[in-house]
Amino acid sequence: MEKPVVAQKAPFAVTLNAAEYYWCACGRSRTQPMCDGSHQGTGLTPVKFTLAEPKLVYLCGCKQTKTPPYCDGTHKSL
Ligand code: FES
Ligand code: FES
Repeated sequence: MEKPVVAQKAPFAVTLNAAEYYWCACGRSRTQPMCDGSHQGTGLTPVKFTLAEPKLVYLCGCKQTKTPPYCDGTHKSL
């Protein structure tokens, strides 16, 4: 399995509608912070999450968080 690459050393602050999403865990997606299928062949897979209502969320951009898909501050030590 390959390691995730850092998409950016900061979270993505995005306001999302109530829906199902696939957060990019590999860092290779061109449509950050969501998966675009670029993880193929890396052994990594996206993280599915669901929002029950529209919400501002901070999705991890560095891909090193221990609480995916959300930023846990790990990017500060990179
Ligand atoms: Fe990164 Fe799919 S493109 S997990
Ligand atoms: Fe990855 Fe904050 S952006 S932990």
